[in-house]
Amino acid sequence: MKATAIAHPNIALVKYWGKADVDTNLPAVGSISITLDSLTTTTRVDFDSGHDRDELILDGAPASEQRAKRVRFCLDLFRRLRPDLPPAVVESENSFPTAAGLASSASGFAALVTAVNAVLDEPLEVNELVEISRRCSGSSPRSLFGGFVELALDGDSTAVRPILNRRDWPLDVVIAVTSKTAKKVGSTDGMELTRRTSPFYESWVEKSSYDLALARGAIASRDFEALAVVSEASCLAMHAVAMAARPGLMYWNGTTVECLHRVRALREEGEPVFFTIDAGPQLKAICQPGASDRVASALAEVPGVIEIVRCGLGDGARVVEG
Ligand code: DP6
Repeated sequence: MKATAIAHPNIALVKYWGKADVDTNLPAVGSISITLDSLTTTTRVDFDSGHDRDELILDGAPASEQRAKRVRFCLDLFRRLRPDLPPAVVESENSFPTAAGLASSASGFAALVTAVNAVLDEPLEVNELVEISRRCSGSSPRSLFGGFVELALDGDSTAVRPILNRRDWPLDVVIAVTSKTAKKVGSTDGMELTRRTSPFYESWVEKSSYDLALARGAIASRDFEALAVVSEASCLAMHAVAMAARPGLMYWNGTTVECLHRVRALREEGEPVFFTIDAGPQLKAICQPGASDRVASALAEVPGVIEIVRCGLGDGARVVEG
């Protein structure tokens, strides 16, 4: 009973921020993302280890108790449906810094549920995997699929739909890394603080179905400019509602803001590029492939940028040998 799976992070263009139900981690809003290619989480599960409890090895070393607890929670969700699953040793490696705003929890849980499912005599259905991974991290079911992906609300559960294959609209992503320090307030806590205290929370939730419809339309017609406008609006609205929480959440540093201005200036000069920023200080520039060299050089020159990471669009989580 051993299997290995890989998954890639995804980046939301229409953002998930806020929970309708904290206990089941049900998002308050739907979201639309793109799955990346070159950043990878590789996760190996071994249910034959003979250990008496689940163990997590992350990037070659025993993981913190907090991370191990989230993995045990995930495995216990499988055990509700497959009670005979013995304790596992889970070994996970990221090809990029963990918890530096590059969505390691999304690829982490997508790889984990895919690997666990591969050892089951009776594998779960995709919608069951979506529910399990969503309960562990709301953005992770999107990494089960490649290309452009929507996570839609469906009563008190969620459904994930691939919208467009990566080959049907290849885009590039240039990530400007502006800090490698783990963020002070994680997404889960930040969302709850926002829901409880931000005066703009209700209008953020209300407006999101409009943004989802605009983004769906832009993707269906491969309208880059329309996707740029709605993605930047959703990103800025997410940060605005979080900044208005009490105390206000500020995920950006000065370099993040400089990068944002640089991307806007490039677009005004005619480059097909727009930005998005998650709950961290890295800026992600999404561009048409022909523009990515120029976008990467321009962002590399912004003082304070410590690394440029380049990706294309990638495939969903999958089982691999090893
Ligand atoms: C800003 O999926 O990390 O990246 O469900 O609490 O684990 P939890 O949150 P998480 O939140 C991601 C928030 C975001 C926007 C997005 O990816 O949609």
